[in-house]
Amino acid sequence: MLAVKIHVRDLTFHYGSQCAIQGLNLDIYQGEILGLMGPAKSGKTTFLRVLNRMCDLVPTARVAGSVLLDGAEILGPECDVDGLRRRVGMVFAKPVPLPRSIYENLAFAPRLQKKHQHRHELDELVENSLKAAQLWEEVKDRLRDSALKLSGGQQQRLCLARTLAMQPEVILLDEPTSGLDPISTARIEETLTELKKDFTIILVSNNTKQIARCSDKVAFMLMSRLVEYGVTPEVFMVPKQKETDDYISGRFG
Ligand SMILES: Nc1ncnc2c1ncn2[C@@H]1O[C@H](COP(=O)(O)OP(=O)(O)OP(=O)(O)O)[C@@H](O)[C@H]1O
Ligand SMILES: [Mg+2]
Repeated sequence: MLAVKIHVRDLTFHYGSQCAIQGLNLDIYQGEILGLMGPAKSGKTTFLRVLNRMCDLVPTARVAGSVLLDGAEILGPECDVDGLRRRVGMVFAKPVPLPRSIYENLAFAPRLQKKHQHRHELDELVENSLKAAQLWEEVKDRLRDSALKLSGGQQQRLCLARTLAMQPEVILLDEPTSGLDPISTARIEETLTELKKDFTIILVSNNTKQIARCSDKVAFMLMSRLVEYGVTPEVFMVPKQKETDDYISGRFG
């Protein structure tokens, strides 16, 4: 029996008067990949931003409902937002390495966070994070080279490694392979499958085949609402809602 890591109840989110998430209820389990799919503007990115309170950065944002992380409310004023963002890491569609060395991309934030971390501890953290992101073998002899010299697929695995170096519990990925070729995409998908036992992963993708390949559970959002949620092969083989069927068979719109 898997444990619920994130418990979402009656979540509603507005940008000014515009509703981006309407009455969302969802449980997200530890040790699984939740695939979140849906057409443009359905609220997927907004949902990820709520989960690490990045949505706070939008002045007109209004949020209602409840999101519990390990049973503790994250939407209220009592939440330690910096601590939350360390626990809930995010990887974006476009990899944005710091214009520094591969090593520094990983060591920079952990060094700031724990001021007196010893060099050998940082070395170990860098190595372990690169190994977990399946990048170590390709870069171990050039850790001092600029991260900007890496290929797009390598940069995306570097960004994943950078998130892992913060030792999060939850990893949010917003269309992490949208700019990548099929081989780089496959590397990322393999990596996520390896990582899922130690983390809770939410993968947003417009690529329904990717969601079908990688995710354990799938959620389908349409126009700010959760239309369908279930075990991945069941949703793909026997969707309960006509909208889901239309979307996954490419008949949408
Ligand atoms: N910062 C913002 N200010 C105002 N409205 C926003 C903001 N960000 C998103 N929205 C609106 O909220 C709605 C949901 O957007 P969101 O980015 O969450 O969708 P999405 O499902 O991630 O779409 P896509 O597949 O295009 O990435 C859209 O109508 C969008 O225009
Ligand atoms: Mg988006």
